[in-house]
Amino acid sequence: MVTKQGVAVLISGRGSNLANLIKHCNKDGYPAEILCVISNSSTAKGLVVARDHGIPTHVIPKKNYSSKLNAILGSIDNLSLICLAGFMSILPIDVVELWENKIINIHPSLLPAFRGLHAQRQAFAGGVKISGCTVHYVDSGLDTGKIIMQAAVPVLPSDTVDSLSDRILSAEHICYPLALKSVLNPHLDLEKFIFVR
Ligand code: GRF
Repeated sequence: MVTKQGVAVLISGRGSNLANLIKHCNKDGYPAEILCVISNSSTAKGLVVARDHGIPTHVIPKKNYSSKLNAILGSIDNLSLICLAGFMSILPIDVVELWENKIINIHPSLLPAFRGLHAQRQAFAGGVKISGCTVHYVDSGLDTGKIIMQAAVPVLPSDTVDSLSDRILSAEHICYPLALKSVLNPHLDLEKFIFVR
């Protein structure tokens, strides 16, 4: 039997990556268990997803944001890793430093290309023929942390920003659970690059 390690997921919105991680965490043999979901928005749809699965949720208030977030994270027993999944806020530096190499994020581009907001739109506008997603450690920069795993997708001549975003999201749903598994189980030595058509 695999021992599950405790994970907190931070979200801001729709929560499709969260829903997908929950699905994987519910499987026997998957090495993570989601202990709690934290949002910086009380209207994030992902909060409903979490509650529907009986996962405790927290909304971080804007006032004293950093200390409140630290307090919530510090109160979770057996927390091994923090997963950002569409968390649209820069993490306070003290949180990043306290949890160095324990925070991972998924970004919808092949980093280091197209950092920051609207990465899919940036890729589309840039005319690239290949794009994808990256799971990386979070450091003090914007999408600059060490890369853990990447999934590539083609950009097709018929694509719009929306169709490209959908294809990248499908790749995210394959990549993030694998990347999380590889972080929690480094000895597995999983492939760190996948191509999704
Ligand atoms: C994803 O595209 C993720 O890469 C980015 O924000 C989006 C979140 O989508 N960081 P969802 O809330 O997981 O559906």
